[in-house]
Amino acid sequence: FPQDVVELVESHVREVEDFPAPGVLFRDITPLIADPVAFASLIEILADRYRGKVDAVAGLESRGFILGAPLAVALGVGMVTVRKAGRLPGPVVGIDYDLEYGSARMELQPFTVKDGDRVLVIDDVLATGGTADAAFQLIEAAGGVADTLCVLLELVDLGGRGRLHDRTVDSVLTY
Ligand code: PRP
Ligand code: MG
Repeated sequence: FPQDVVELVESHVREVEDFPAPGVLFRDITPLIADPVAFASLIEILADRYRGKVDAVAGLESRGFILGAPLAVALGVGMVTVRKAGRLPGPVVGIDYDLEYGSARMELQPFTVKDGDRVLVIDDVLATGGTADAAFQLIEAAGGVADTLCVLLELVDLGGRGRLHDRTVDSVLTY
């Protein structure tokens, strides 16, 4: 990503110590989306990068929705929601995946993805990659083609990129 968008994101991310648990440094994107000029320019920059290359945008609940919906509108494509278990009315496809402690489940309504659609996956943060990997598998199970994840922040030490194998990760900032 160009240096101006890197600086834009960097200057609007809050670092919060000991959240959500002691010893964790949480990176909070709410200042960015609360700033109308910064948020609009971010979406414009992302739209310029992906225009003509995708047929749908898939946002990962919850913070991926905030970024995905305006990006989908800017690109003139549909918005697909990949949600936590039990939120979407059926039919759904779901996948369980491991977290550091325990497991989680993401679901998708397959009718929201058309056969062969190129689907861009978007979220705020890539950490272990479990959430994004689940999303890629769900989109493919629904007949879509998904090979790119766009995130604002990538926490490199958690190894998410490795878990996503040969998928492309476009991260604005890496920590
Ligand atoms: C956070 C973050 C990503 C995910 C990354 O979401 O927004 O979606 O974790 O972690 P991973 O790469 O290890 O899977 P969270 O589950 O906290 O929920 P939220 O977006 O609803 O706040
Ligand atoms: Mg999330």
